[in-house]
Amino acid sequence: MIVKLSELLKEAKKNRYGIPAFAVEDENCMRSAIEAAEEMKSPLIVLAGFKEYSDDKELRDLDYRTHTFLHYCEEASVPIALTRDHTYKYEDAIIGVKSGFQCIMADRSKLPFEENVAQVAEIVKVCHAAGVDVEAELGHVGLGLDLQNDGNVFTVPEEAAEYVKRTNCDSLAVSIGNAHGLYKGTPKLQFDRLEQLVNATDVPLVLHGATGIPEEDVTRACQSGICKVNVGTDTYMACRDGVLNADLSGSKVYGVFDAMYGSYKEVLKHWMTITGSAGKAA
Ligand code: 13P
Repeated sequence: MIVKLSELLKEAKKNRYGIPAFAVEDENCMRSAIEAAEEMKSPLIVLAGFKEYSDDKELRDLDYRTHTFLHYCEEASVPIALTRDHTYKYEDAIIGVKSGFQCIMADRSKLPFEENVAQVAEIVKVCHAAGVDVEAELGHVGLGLDLQNDGNVFTVPEEAAEYVKRTNCDSLAVSIGNAHGLYKGTPKLQFDRLEQLVNATDVPLVLHGATGIPEEDVTRACQSGICKVNVGTDTYMACRDGVLNADLSGSKVYGVFDAMYGSYKEVLKHWMTITGSAGKAA
């Protein structure tokens, strides 16, 4: 069944667990993700569309994909929310609303504070009027290879409190030592900062860039107030490794898609276990 993201995250916040949000690229990923969630009795968050859509063909593809995903999600026995990840332009957010997403991420984290507030507050007004949630980002979650150790990107708790009040966003992505993509070395999450952020704000907090964070830190972050855990790279690596490690010799090559999507499904189940979402849709 399809639900609003804020409903899923409200439960997660109250009961101190996280819900993984996965990159879902196509219909077969969508089916595998639903199977994983149903087997684990876990709520599911689908991340679709990481990029800006500029030409008509891309927009039609996004619209088609979203409608197809919604169709599968409606029939699932677990609650699912579809999020349009990382939009950077007003138009992209509106297109996301029109396509049927339950949440739009409005990422203005590279802008100065006041501009970030002004642009996101405007999008929140429009999205809320359409019954759609908005995830925002304060501080900046960059790419693991270049931003992970840059102190300027971390989310400041006092600013987060003001930001949430002024934008009226529904959830907030924070920068606490996390970064997208592959990390250089082992990332160290700042749990003190996380605690201050949880105390300073009343919205669910989101951890982007979960791939590569040690499992025990993911679990601790979820028990400490992270409610949504964005996973991308790990799902793509699972697809790649599923194919590379399978015996696809001769006519076993017919198994290539099973190898890819089977491996994708297993990695999703693993994230549902370490975030604590497994069993929460029971
Ligand atoms: P990773 O690719 O690092 O797991 O991050 C995904 C993400 O945060 C998408 O928003």
